[in-house]
Amino acid sequence: MALKINSLGGYIHEYQKSVNTPEKFWAEIADNFYWRKKWDKVVEWNFEEPRVEWFKNAKLNITENIFERNLFTHADKPAIIWEPNDPNEAHITLTYKELYEKVCQFANVLKGKGIEKGDRVIIYMPMVPEAAIAMLACARVGAVHSIVFAGFSSSALADRIEDCKAKMVITSDGNFRGTKKIPVKAVVDEALEAKSSIENVIVLQRTKQDVTMTAGRDTWWHEACEGVSTENKAEEMDSEDMLFILYTSGSTGKPKGVVHTCGGYMVYTAYTFQNVFHYNPGDIYWCTADVGWITGHSYIVYGPLVSGATSMMFEGVPTFPDAGRFWEVVAKHKVNQFYTAPTAIRALQAYGLDPVTKHDLSSLKVLGSVGEPINEEAWHWYHTHIGKGKCPIVDTWWQTETGGILISPLPGITPTKPSYATLPLPGVQPVIVDSEGKELKGNSVEGNLCIKFPWPSMIRTTYGDHERCRTTYFSTYPGMYFTGDGVKRDEDGYYRILGRVDDVINVSGHRMGTAEVENAINEHPLVIESAVVGYPHDIKGQGIYAYVIADMSASETDTEEELAKEIILTVSKIIGPIAKPDKVQIVSGLPKTRSGKIMRRILRKVAEGDISNLGDTSTLLNPEIVDELIAKAGLA
Ligand code: PRX
Repeated sequence: MALKINSLGGYIHEYQKSVNTPEKFWAEIADNFYWRKKWDKVVEWNFEEPRVEWFKNAKLNITENIFERNLFTHADKPAIIWEPNDPNEAHITLTYKELYEKVCQFANVLKGKGIEKGDRVIIYMPMVPEAAIAMLACARVGAVHSIVFAGFSSSALADRIEDCKAKMVITSDGNFRGTKKIPVKAVVDEALEAKSSIENVIVLQRTKQDVTMTAGRDTWWHEACEGVSTENKAEEMDSEDMLFILYTSGSTGKPKGVVHTCGGYMVYTAYTFQNVFHYNPGDIYWCTADVGWITGHSYIVYGPLVSGATSMMFEGVPTFPDAGRFWEVVAKHKVNQFYTAPTAIRALQAYGLDPVTKHDLSSLKVLGSVGEPINEEAWHWYHTHIGKGKCPIVDTWWQTETGGILISPLPGITPTKPSYATLPLPGVQPVIVDSEGKELKGNSVEGNLCIKFPWPSMIRTTYGDHERCRTTYFSTYPGMYFTGDGVKRDEDGYYRILGRVDDVINVSGHRMGTAEVENAINEHPLVIESAVVGYPHDIKGQGIYAYVIADMSASETDTEEELAKEIILTVSKIIGPIAKPDKVQIVSGLPKTRSGKIMRRILRKVAEGDISNLGDTSTLLNPEIVDELIAKAGLA
């Protein structure tokens, strides 16, 4: 595919072309793909409704671009190399032909269970090849997959099933993570206890732990596939038909279903994959994300596979059996491009260099970072000790809503700068605005990050509630997509992402809405009110700090310490362990303005341990509470 930019001049040229003649630019790129019918118009859009349509009236199936288009040349090339949790278990390699047959077969299974184009299917699975097979089989038959990260609780899963009215869940018996065997099917059973839209559950056998199978609803994956044909004709999809829904947290309580569509998503993820990782045929590419997040969708499955690449999937965790596991896997499979999150880098950094130097990392060519700002120290450690000073780091900034990477260096082509995502990719037009929405032009400016022109893989709607999409992303600064991130453009024009400016916390690269965590805390019977803020955390980037007002008199036994533990457990049950507060402070009140608004700025300061510059607290409704917060946090 002739999509690759090879020089700095090439980048500048392509970027300008993408801004001056976007339709021509994207049409030339899209011409590299297989369309059953080409588009009538490249893009039609307005950011008021919003309405965004790419490759209008074109027809395609993304899986035909992965398989049929490439099979003559790629049949025997590895598509997925799967590395299991336990290094003593054999890895699995699936060639494009093998993967194709498995996807077709499972597509036939889906059809046999009554799944039709447009139906929603929930995937709640560990990191096994079957997770990718399930995704691609849905895409093949035109069903809309919605993957729920297997660390979410049964109630979070039930909410998502209910929101998209899914007909099927694809899951596994359990999940191996390090030394643990985690129940997965049992969580699904709990989520389905109340009446739901789910008609069928398909269960992959992975851990062989005991599960309950409900007659008439549950089928084992291997039994469902028995004797089923490996030939399947892909469903014809419109470019703007839904490909998937992925739920993500925002500043209000309920996660929203971000909708991505077929044509634009395919073009953009493949284009950015090839350019940002500078993938060459024969390279082994490894992204350590989970398929439950957007990174797994775009840069483990769709982007790489549409590009005919070899994509590694890893089931385990970075510290099992020891903190050298990532590097052992890099050496074992001679990985060329390695893409991970700053939180993983910081966690591994803490183990020193022994686990690193034991392994031969000479195959590495490009290192990637995603999910949160990478601090300079971690950047240098990654660059020096993993990349041995010779691998460019691509610090890729993007979001669930953007579908693909928007701001990133191109390795070896555009400059890198520690902790900077640097420059927008071709087709991306970032603007920085002040709080009034005035565009801040020129360099050395700081403000809120917006994008003023559509790109092919952008969010189309929030499932079932288009108005929510409009108000969340397109109403703060009319005529622009608002990212929710603060940003700085330095004296050289490079972008540095500063973090969220809304009530969203980024914990280990995972997005958590403060309101979502508060809602979960408030479920505890003794809790009267709570307020959650983020604070700097050495490993996770941000930790969760919860201030809780509780009715201690209603409990005969609880101490504050016990209550804090119960609260953490409650959050774990309602959302999942990833949302557990790191600190719970029981307080008698929360600092409020006279209109009753919680002063989160004060809460953030106390959580950070910085009580200088608290500002004028005398105008608060309850100024005395600030001293209590400070004393209880041990800062007095
Ligand atoms: O705040 C930004 C941060 O992660 C948010 C998006 O989170 P999510 O939708 O879960 O997607 C994560 C994976 C793409 C952004 O609003 N973020 C993501 N990448 C970076 C980042 N912050 C700084 N630098 C990055 N490279």
